[in-house]
Order: sequence, then structure tokens, then C-alpha cells
Amino acid sequence: MITRAKHTDQVTELELTNKALSLEAATEGIVLLKNNGGLPLEPSKIALFGSGAQYTIHGGSGSGEVNVRHNVTIKEGLEEAEFEITTNSWIERYDRQWKKGKAAFLSKYRKKLLWPNSKMWTTLMAADYKYPSGDLITEAEVREGGADTCIYVLSRKSGEGHDCEDAAGSFRLDMTEEQNIRFCTTHFANFILVINTGSPIDLSSIENLSGIKAIVYMGQLGMEGGRALASMLTGKSCPSGKLAVSWPKKYKDVPFGQEFGKDASQADYKEGIYVGYRYYDSFGIKPRYPFGYGLSYTSFTIEHLQTTLDKDCVGCSVEVKNTGNDFAGKEVVQVYVSCPGEDREYQRLVAFDKTDILHPSQSETLSLSFTLTALATYDEKKAQTLISQGEYLIRIGNSSDNTEPVAIICINKDVVLTQHKNLCTAPNKIAELKHNNKLQIPDNLPKLIVDTDCFTTHTIDYSANHDNFSEKSLSAMHGFTAEDYVNFCAGTGMSGEKAGFRTPGAVGHTSTAYIDKGIANIELCDGPAGVRLEKRAVHYPDGDIKSLDLSISLYEFFPNFLLKLLVLGNPKKGKVVYQYVTGFPIEAVVAQTWNTKLAERIGKAVSQEMSEFGVGIWLAPAINIVRNPLCGRNYEYYSEDPLLTGKMAAATTKGVEATKGNFVTLKHFCVNNQETYRYTVSSQVDERVLREIYWKGFEIAIKEAHPHSIMTAYNKLNGTYCANNKQLCTDLLRGEWEFRGIVMTDWMSTGKGKADEAMSIQSGVDIIMPGGKEDVQTLITAHNEGKLSVSDMQRAATRVINIITLADRP
Ligand code: BGC
Repeated sequence: MITRAKHTDQVTELELTNKALSLEAATEGIVLLKNNGGLPLEPSKIALFGSGAQYTIHGGSGSGEVNVRHNVTIKEGLEEAEFEITTNSWIERYDRQWKKGKAAFLSKYRKKLLWPNSKMWTTLMAADYKYPSGDLITEAEVREGGADTCIYVLSRKSGEGHDCEDAAGSFRLDMTEEQNIRFCTTHFANFILVINTGSPIDLSSIENLSGIKAIVYMGQLGMEGGRALASMLTGKSCPSGKLAVSWPKKYKDVPFGQEFGKDASQADYKEGIYVGYRYYDSFGIKPRYPFGYGLSYTSFTIEHLQTTLDKDCVGCSVEVKNTGNDFAGKEVVQVYVSCPGEDREYQRLVAFDKTDILHPSQSETLSLSFTLTALATYDEKKAQTLISQGEYLIRIGNSSDNTEPVAIICINKDVVLTQHKNLCTAPNKIAELKHNNKLQIPDNLPKLIVDTDCFTTHTIDYSANHDNFSEKSLSAMHGFTAEDYVNFCAGTGMSGEKAGFRTPGAVGHTSTAYIDKGIANIELCDGPAGVRLEKRAVHYPDGDIKSLDLSISLYEFFPNFLLKLLVLGNPKKGKVVYQYVTGFPIEAVVAQTWNTKLAERIGKAVSQEMSEFGVGIWLAPAINIVRNPLCGRNYEYYSEDPLLTGKMAAATTKGVEATKGNFVTLKHFCVNNQETYRYTVSSQVDERVLREIYWKGFEIAIKEAHPHSIMTAYNKLNGTYCANNKQLCTDLLRGEWEFRGIVMTDWMSTGKGKADEAMSIQSGVDIIMPGGKEDVQTLITAHNEGKLSVSDMQRAATRVINIITLADRP
């Protein structure tokens, strides 16, 4: 077995460069939610409390974890920035509580593992140590160091395999947190709340505390988190992040929130297209913080210069000026459109852009554009994408709640853009929310009259084949039989085999059986907040490789004997090799930068690490829509808005795939919006809603950036497992969006009581992951029983071999 893991643990140039980029992204993704003169701060004495002070959460748990040399905590970041922390005794006491709690928690699960069963993995995935809130803060602790300023860090860990709850200590603050915050607001002249979560949280219990001078949504910032926060708190960097999801005041404001995760078999998407701000704005419910919102230390004006129409393209130019005196900063400009007619959302984001750093008095002209397809809706009765007749209002501003109308687009007759066929109609009509958008069109705005004759209707040809196989892949397969094909239709399991190329920490590998015939295996590794690899591994003389550290935190639950038996290597028996990667901010924070250029640079940086360690396929970006604030994997997703999601994913894809042979995987296709019951639940969604909300981000990313791989979701869509859905995996992906990459299943999503392996391949899946001998055998049996045709296996294998040849591995 060969590997590119290094033989020394020396810090490399690449690590330093990427760490600097991680810091830049982290700093730019922080959102300042409130500031009544509390910030910025001069480094001085500071009282630091809260679970995240020293146990700062840098990312979520599960497959999205990243293993790095070191994560900078908030305490470290502040100390490095020359703050003097006066509350070390509280922090140390907290440390002891944390460790004790963790030990008890692990021991409970370790006992369960003494009798492993088939549900073990799911149980472990669902287990996340809930950080204690610490002791009540005392008067003595306030007096201890004589600090005037207090920072309280409110943290929540969330992750794969389980959702949060609308309960104290989860979505809500618990009594200790509430009391401590209340206490600190009256005992310190300057109180700052820092929120270290992967998704919004309910702040209603502390909303009336006037002593809160500033609220910072730090999110989870990756390995440079503490440093980035200190930079923002001191004003070294000026906040420019904007929310990528709305923050509801209370959970009861979330549409149909009471039904979330309750039914093991079915989740009806009753809110329809009204997700996030589309709901709050249309139904007049004020969120605590609106989508697109975020403050700065300086002020900006956004002056609309002009809006023009060129055939189907609308261009808006604006001049953004820094009108403050003290800080240089960036501003985000957002363009929304309100569409007329029944059952349309109040507004939707159609374009956005971010300025460079503007110094006081400096200005920049931004040109934003969108095509009229951004106004379209899907008519399920006619299976058409169309722009309906009427007047559309364009608004420009710096948040969904702060816009000015600037122009009107006039469409004098319905324009049918695309004739589809309905692909995934819900089995029963879903009783969806309806809203009648009574648009008030101001009469003093310029009108852009669209020449509707310049459009032609595109009718999808579902039979067209868009595959484009390399000569190399076709000739590599010369003489292959059904048995050969089938070897490529499944991966080789989580730990691979003792042959071929190996990246320690890879969670999947393509077949190693044809290396002698010149078809290498490729390695698949997780993301999205970096490349999840093993930091240190043991390379044995017989070629085998085993980890030296726990590459995913759920291994912590394993008793030592199991770890030694199954997971960990023995450094005395082989050579220790190293792979140090970068922990970037979580996707939810990257989206908050609203900076696609930055997302592309992160993609490039990830790609360099992929090349460095030989990863062919990165299992990211994750691009499900944030439907509900309780979803445990929200941290891994970009936004509640499909445009922001799609643009971020496209930029990341471009960054990664700019390096020949390195590929992304868009995941989880599709409507995987909850972790509870993810293996059994069917998301029941109308086709219009799928097309306008849940598929849109995938469509944008595929059409703009042509990614080479996509992963199906665990759940069912309208009654059929996503991996078993031909309309999804073939008609939509290939027929409509002309996707040319491979389709893989999510890990262990096939088998008894899950998606069927053979049906997956028939439906357009190309590789079952992580696969293994059993899957290969299942497919052979299905073939022998006449349930899987050679042509389906050949097609899948050819696609897999095609990507292997494109990856061009040794
Ligand atoms: C997750 C995927 C991940 C895969 C491999 C699954 O549990 O849903 O997002 O890529 O594991 O680790």
C-alpha cells in the first residue's frame, strides 16, 4: 500500500498559508448582532465565563469533524491579544466539571458497547456530550480581578445523527446560563454575549436585559476561532458577516416546528416554499434577526445608480460608501425581488455581492446582475417553469429587512421557460401554507419592459445522453464482464483493502482489484470544514495503515480493547506518518461571509491538501437547505436560501476542481433536512417546492460549476428512498441538469430496511458507499436473478472508471 502521508510532523508552508486563510474566513464570517457601544474593546482586564470560554466549539460532530494540530480557544485568542483574564478560578472549576461529566458520559456509552448490535453506530452517532453550564457566578468572582468588561460565551455542540430540541440547554438557555448572564449584566459595566453555536438559538429569556451591550454570533470558526474572535472584538478587523439564516424569536415561530422530527415515517413539508425569510416576510412574523442582517463598526451608504435590462439579464449598479470615520470595512449588497400573484413569497434573493475593504470616505461601485429565470416559478399542473405576467419589484439593501425598491420589471404575458415532466410528485396533496402576495407597486420607479418574444421554450429531452467518457476509461474496460463491472459499483468498505493507494482517514475507496490492469483506486474523504484525515497513523511493513489518533469523536466511546483491536495502530510496529490539515470555519459561517471569492479560495486550499495527501474525492460541500433551526447538521449547510447555497457551493466546487483530478461531492441529494429518523423518514414535498427551494441549490451548483460527484441522501423523498429514485438520480440530474459525474449513495444507506442496492444502480446511482464485499455479492445475486441488467452495471462502472482516470492517481 502506498501513501502520501508525511514522514515528519514539521509544520509545512501549506499549513501556514491555509491557516491564514482559515483565520481570514473566520474573521469575515462573524456576525455582529447588537452593539450599544460595547464593542470594540481595548485589550485590558476581562472577565470570561461560559462553557465555550475554554471549550470553544470549533465545528460540529460526526462526519463533518476535522482533525487539526490545534484549535485556538477563545481564552487563548484573548490572551494572545493581550487581554488579562480575571476569571481563571471559574474557568478552572469549569474545566474539572467538564472532564468529570465527560468521563461519566463516556463510561455510560462504553458499557453499551460491550454488547455491540446493529444499531450501535446509530446510537453512537446520536450521542453528543452536552457541555455543562458551569457554576453560578459569585460576587467574589466579579470582584476578584476588577474587570469592567465581561464576555460570556454561550455554546452548543450539534452534529450528525441527532437533532437539537426546543428545550433548556439545547435551543433554549438553561437556568444557569440565564441566571449567569442576568447576573453579569448587572455586575459589569460592559457585558458582551458571544454565541458559539452552529445554528440559531432562542434568546427570548434574556431579550429584555438592557445590560447586554453587544451580541456577537461567532458561530463555529474552525481552528483559528479564538484568534478570529479576538481580532473582531478588538476592532483589528471590522465585522462584515451577515446572517445566512433567519433567527426566530421563539421556536413557536418556526412554521410547523412542532411536527419536526416527530414522525418516523413521514415529514410533510407543509410550509411549502415558505422557508426561512420567505415565511417570516410573507406572513408578517418578525424574526429576532432577519436573513442577511449583520452590523459593522462603521457605517455605509448604498446608493442605487441604475438598473438596466439587456434581453433577459437585469443589471443593478450601486455605489457603496464607507461613511464612518474610524474603521475600514466591507459591506454586502443584496438584491431581492418581490413577485406578483397568488402563492408567491414576499421576496426572494436574486443577487448579492460584497465590496472590498473600504476605508473611511472610500467608495466602490458594484455591478450585480441576475437573469429573469430568477423570477420564475414552477407550475406543477403543466410541469412548466415560467415567468408569469405581472410587475416585479426589485429591492436593494444590506439585509432582507432593510431594502429600498429601485425598479420594476414588467412582463406583459406569461413566458414558459422550460417544459419538464413532473418527476417526484407527492403521493398525496400536501396541505400547504398559501399566501397571496398583494404587492404594492410604487408608481415613481423606473420600469423595465421585458420583450417576452426574446424567450423560447426549452423542452427537456430526457432521453439525451450527456455522458462524456474519456478514451482512457473506455479502453481500460476493454474485455470486462459483468463481474468486472460490479466491482466498480461498490466501494471497498470503510477501511479499504491492503492494496493500492491509501490516505489514512479516508472513509471510502474505489475498487483496488484492478490496479494491475492500470485502474488505480481513489480515496474519498469527508468535509466540509476541511479534509477529515487522520493526523497520525502507523504504516506497517506489510503495507497496512492504522490510525494513531481517533479520527472521529465517536470512537471515544469504544472501550480500549476494541479501539486497539479495530482502530488504533501500534507505533512500535511500524513507521509513524503525519497528515496535518486545516480546520476551516463551518459552512454556515462561510455562507455568512457572503463572499464567493473567499469560498472559492477555501475550495482551492482544500484542493491543495487533497493533492498533498492524495484524496481524489472530497465529500463536500453539503448543501441541504436549512429548514428548521433544530437540525443537528445545520452547521454543515450554508443557508435557508437556495441562491446563497448554490452560489457558495458553485464557488467551492470551482476552487476544488480547478486542480485537475480533484473532485467535490455535493450532498445530500436531497431533502435531508433532519437527523432524527433519517434512515426511515420520507420527506413529503411538492414538486414546485422541490424545484424552487430544495433542488435549486444543487441545480445552481451543477449548472455553474459542473461538479464531478454527488451523494444521495439517507431519507426517502415522497415515499421512495432517494437512492432508489430514478427520476431523481437520472431524469433530473442527467436529463435536466446535464450532470456528468458519478452518483454515490450515502454511507450505509443501502441494505435491509434501507434503499435497495440493485435498485439504486438501476435508478442511476453509480457506486454504493462505502461498499464492501457484501454489497458486491448482493449486486451479483441481483444480476443472476435477473434484477439488475448488465447495461446498468456497465454504465455505472464506466462512470466510476471515468472519474478514476480523470483523477489520474498512481
Ligand atoms: C454522512 C455523510 C458522510 C459519510 C462518510 C455519512 O454518515 O451522512 O455526509 O460523507 O457519512 O463519512
